[in-house]
Amino acid sequence: MEKSVFKTVAVVGASGAVGRIILELLEEREFPAETFRFLSSARSAGTDLVFKNQDYVFEELTKDSFKGVDLVIASTPDDTAAEFLPYAVEAGAKVIDESGYWRMHEEVALVVPEINPEAALNAKGIIASPNCSTTQMVLAMKPLYDISPIRRVIVSTYQATSGAGLVGTEDLIHSSQARLQGEEYDYKVFKQPIAFNAIPQIGSHKQDGYTSEEMKMVNETRKILGDPNIMINATCVRIPVWNCHSESITIETETPISPEQAREAFAAFPGIEVIDDLETGQYPMPYNSDGSDEVYVGRIRKDISHPNGLTFWCVSDNLRKGAATNAVQIAELLNKHYK
Ligand SMILES: NC(=O)c1ccc[n+]([C@@H]2O[C@H](COP(=O)([O-])OP(=O)(O)OC[C@H]3O[C@@H](n4cnc5c(N)ncnc54)[C@H](OP(=O)(O)O)[C@@H]3O)[C@@H](O)[C@H]2O)c1
Repeated sequence: MEKSVFKTVAVVGASGAVGRIILELLEEREFPAETFRFLSSARSAGTDLVFKNQDYVFEELTKDSFKGVDLVIASTPDDTAAEFLPYAVEAGAKVIDESGYWRMHEEVALVVPEINPEAALNAKGIIASPNCSTTQMVLAMKPLYDISPIRRVIVSTYQATSGAGLVGTEDLIHSSQARLQGEEYDYKVFKQPIAFNAIPQIGSHKQDGYTSEEMKMVNETRKILGDPNIMINATCVRIPVWNCHSESITIETETPISPEQAREAFAAFPGIEVIDDLETGQYPMPYNSDGSDEVYVGRIRKDISHPNGLTFWCVSDNLRKGAATNAVQIAELLNKHYK
C-alpha cells in the first residue's frame, strides 16, 4: 500500500448518499491512512458500519471532532459545512468539502484534479469540490477549451434524484410505486411530484429568473477554468432517473472545432470516454453510466445554427465523478504531493 502523509482521516457525512460512495472509494482505491473516523449527525450516530472488514460506529460531529485529524473529507448540507469546517481548518487538518457553501469563497480552492490540480496544492484552507452538474460539464469543456477558448455555453441538464441525497432516491422509489397504485405520496424533499414528471427547478430562485443550481454552473465553471468572461446559460431539470446526470451542451468557440477534432480531444483527455455512434444507437445514458468514474460524451456534432458552434451530450455518475470520486482524487493528489 502507498505511504500516507495523513495518519488520521475523518469522513464527515459518511452515512449520506455521497459519503457512502466516499467510503467505497477509499476502500476500493486503498487510500492509505492509519486511522479512519466516520462522522454524521445525531440521527446516524451510534449506528454500525463495516469498512475494510472492520467494525466502526458513526460518531456525532461536534466542533471538537477534529482533534488529531489530518484530513477531512466532508459531504454534509451547506449549513453544517459552514458551521463545522472552520474548526477542522483551525485544528490543522486539510479539508475537502462537497457542499455548496464554501465553493465561491475567494480564499477557497475549487478543484477538478484533471483541470486545476495546482489550486488544490496551493490551497491554504478548505478545498471545495464543485457541484455535480458543473464537474461533468467543465471536464468535458476543458479539452475543447484547450483547442480554442470557449466564448459561450448553452446547457440543459437532466438530473437524477440521487442528486438530492438519499431521501431524494427514496422519494423517487416510493412516489413511483404510489403513482402506479393510484395512491397519494407525501414527498420528503421534492416540492413538485417527481414520479413520471420533469421539474424545471433545482434549488432556490437566485437571480433574473435563474435557479441556484443554474448559477452554480455559471460561477463555478468560470472559477475552475479561471475565465470570468465565458457566457453560460443553464437550465437545470430534475427527472425521474435514479442516478447519473445527463447534459445537452452547446459551445461556441473563438475558432471552429470540428466534430472529428472534438472526438479526438475528448478521447485523449483523462477521465473522459467517448461513446458516439448514432447509426448503431451508441451514446451515453444514465442506465449505462451508473457506478462508473468516467464522464461520457456522445452525440458530438456541429451546431448547425452557428459556424463556431459544437453540440454534444454528456452523462456522468453524479455521486461518483460528480462528488465522491472527485473528492477522493483530490485527497490522492494531496497525499502524493506532500509525501
Ligand atoms: N448527491 C449528489 O449527487 C451530490 C453531488 C455533489 C455534491 N453534493 C453535496 O454533498 C453534500 C451531501 O449530499 P448527499 O447527497 O450525500 O446528502 P444526504 O444523502 O442527505 O447525506 C447528508 C449527510 O450529511 C450528514 N449530516 C446532516 N446534517 C448533519 C449535521 N448537522 N452534522 C453532521 N452531519 C450531518 C448526514 O448524516 P445523518 O445520516 O446523521 O443524517 C448524512 O451523512 C451536500 O452538500 C450536497 O449538496 C451532493
